[in-house]
Amino acid sequence: MIITIDGPAGSGKSTVAKQLAKELDIYYLYTGLLYRAVAYILVDRFKKKVDNLLKSEDFVFIKNISYKYILNKPRVYFKYENISMYLQDSKWDQPASIISSNKMVRKLLIDTQRDVAKDYDLIADGRDCGSVIFPNADYKFFLTADLETRALRVFNDKQRLSNKDSFEKVKEELEIRDRRDKERKVAPLMVPDDAIIIDNSKMNRQETIDEFLRFINM
Ligand code: C5P
Repeated sequence: MIITIDGPAGSGKSTVAKQLAKELDIYYLYTGLLYRAVAYILVDRFKKKVDNLLKSEDFVFIKNISYKYILNKPRVYFKYENISMYLQDSKWDQPASIISSNKMVRKLLIDTQRDVAKDYDLIADGRDCGSVIFPNADYKFFLTADLETRALRVFNDKQRLSNKDSFEKVKEELEIRDRRDKERKVAPLMVPDDAIIIDNSKMNRQETIDEFLRFINM
């Protein structure tokens, strides 16, 4: 059983996917964490400048990135070192989005994602899960909400983490990231042909989960 959820930033994909993985007792594949890992390794470990990220040529290190979902937590390893704790920081939002437009980066991450599905029933969230990674998924969802609502969610999350970014800045960055993700040539963010579209602008977390569960028969 494979369930995919694609959608723009701030739509709540990861929150929903994590919760559904628990309720359905299946594996959770948070694909965004892999792109975050590539950005983190290039900038933090290899000291590449964010502006030069796309000029990197040697991406073989990506073969040393692996993913595991252990005790309800997504974990990413680089050469067996757990680097998960560094990746969710919002400072990797834009670098991950920039590097994810690179064809070679995406290619090198395909097997890492598909291999997980060989061993487990899973729910995967990201931008191309239903369109490219798992085109034969049993259920494909596209989760979205209006920009204002998504920006407010991200803004509130940041405030909880004592981040001082203004609402306008958060909204602008979200728009830039969505545009880049939609307009890139390789595996752009799109609604997969056979996806169920859910707009949760006016739903809270539980209502969103319930809406998903209306469609899933397990
Ligand atoms: O999901 P998250 O916001 O953590 O993803 C960070 C970035 O990684 C996204 O903005 C997107 O550019 C990229 N990404 C992607 N394809 C995926 C998942 C994430 O291009 N399947």
